[in-house]
Amino acid sequence: MIYNNPFLGLSSFIAPVAMQGFVIVMIVLVVLGTLLDIIHKKNVKYFFNNAKKAKKNAKIELTTSQRTSVILKTVAYDIATTSELGKGKRRAAHLLGMYGTILFWIGSVIMIFCYSSPSSDTPSFWPIIWHVGALMTVIGGGWFWFFLRVDVYSEAQPWYRIIKADLFVLALVASSLTGLIWSYLQSLNLNDRWDDKVFLVLFIVSNLVLFGGVYWSKFAHMFYKPGAAIQKNLAEADGSRDNLPPPADAPKQFGLGIKREEPKHY
Ligand code: HEM
Repeated sequence: MIYNNPFLGLSSFIAPVAMQGFVIVMIVLVVLGTLLDIIHKKNVKYFFNNAKKAKKNAKIELTTSQRTSVILKTVAYDIATTSELGKGKRRAAHLLGMYGTILFWIGSVIMIFCYSSPSSDTPSFWPIIWHVGALMTVIGGGWFWFFLRVDVYSEAQPWYRIIKADLFVLALVASSLTGLIWSYLQSLNLNDRWDDKVFLVLFIVSNLVLFGGVYWSKFAHMFYKPGAAIQKNLAEADGSRDNLPPPADAPKQFGLGIKREEPKHY
């Protein structure tokens, strides 16, 4: 199964150009959903106004090389390791899901655009990347969904309570899981049986929900979070501190209550 390019099997009844068109439509949906979200929330406008205001409070004028160095360090550390999530399980689950998704999407695009015609021979590297990525996403996303979600972890809600905010994580896990099952059933060579077709339909539907639901889901955080991290670190480096006061020069005294339980309330 892990060496199976599922899009090659699909090419016997769906033309590669149709699969490629589907990927392009998904990319367009992400761009449109993010733009609508930006217009609706006015978050980018706020972000730039805030950055302009903070610039006036800058204590140092950063040179281009200093700015580049701050940006590169932010990409290598804050963004690539999602340092915002601290050191625990939350970060481990997120890294699994994030890198899993990146591998799964890259594998999908390469196999659909380069190796989906019936005559093509797929190097085994790409199906492996695709299956490993999907598995990592299912594990990371499932871990987050069942155990780490704020509603479940901090607010004692049951894991099966679903709200609109869960759209992103559920659609993400559903697209990887249905993709994996579809590939597995295909690799069993069931000929004209219906099973793999059902999972193909579920795979298509979950992708439509994931990419078509950007406006309603948390999808766009993957663009906003890196931008915010870069701005925060630039504001730290030029001394403007995003218009916030410097940390107090006083001992940290939170009282004994802080020792009673691990902080996990949001
Ligand atoms: C392919 C890229 C990414 C994927 C697939 C992804 C996936 C996810 C998922 C599934 C969640 C849980 C959403 C929920 O609350 O229901 C999440 C939350 C989060 N993500 Fe990402 N993410 C990506 C990129 C990033 C990046 C680049 C950053 C930061 C630089 C980031 C920071 C966060 C943070 C801070 C949370 C909140 C976590 C929490 O509530 O514990 N993500 N992400």
